[in-house]
Amino acid sequence: MSQDALKRAVAAAAIDEIRPLLTADAVIGVGTGSTANCFIDALAAYKHDFRGAVASSEATAQRLKDHGIEVFELNHVGSLPVYVDGADEINARLEMIKGGGAALTREKIVAACAERFVCIADASKRVEVLGGFPLPIEVIPMARSYVARELVRLGMTPVYRDGVITDNGNQILDCFDALFEEPARTEAELNNLVGVVTNGLFARRPADVLLLGTESGIERHTR
Ligand code: A5P
Repeated sequence: MSQDALKRAVAAAAIDEIRPLLTADAVIGVGTGSTANCFIDALAAYKHDFRGAVASSEATAQRLKDHGIEVFELNHVGSLPVYVDGADEINARLEMIKGGGAALTREKIVAACAERFVCIADASKRVEVLGGFPLPIEVIPMARSYVARELVRLGMTPVYRDGVITDNGNQILDCFDALFEEPARTEAELNNLVGVVTNGLFARRPADVLLLGTESGIERHTR
């Protein structure tokens, strides 16, 4: 099965997973990326079963609207019953690296407001130790060089993602050459650097459910 077919399969499984939560007043969180896009496309068939969605990026908001799904400001909603999103890497504790699509900060905010985080991913995203995928860090533009020097001091190799401006008007450093054995500790440490908006480690708020698309079917993992 192709990677795209696996993404569509996990998106369909996510619909089955969240259908009991789709009520007339439910507003759900929706993530960003190619797997999340498959989920949005599948969700469109159920748009009359729930109130709407909060988007983790401008691209996701546009795709939801194109399907006729109402998009709400997070500040107008409060708690969300569920957030569905992909990941760049995910380990057995359902800790993740996210942000390959530069949407990590809004993703982390929406995830923080969700009662349940359902991660949808194809089998290539499952790893033993996070860090094979370069860790994205969103920085305030004027702090980029300072933060990069601090990351080098911590043993990482940051690379400026040239030409990318996040939805929040910031820049991205991708950190190579680091394996994260204690991702929750590193997540907090990196967020303490002045000028960092957030980093792509999702360990302090990991996923609650992982739907993993494999050649032999959908695996469901929980914490
Ligand atoms: C967006 O910033 C990311 O966190 C995505 O959720 C992640 O990169 C997964 O994207 P794909 O589903 O496209 O692999």
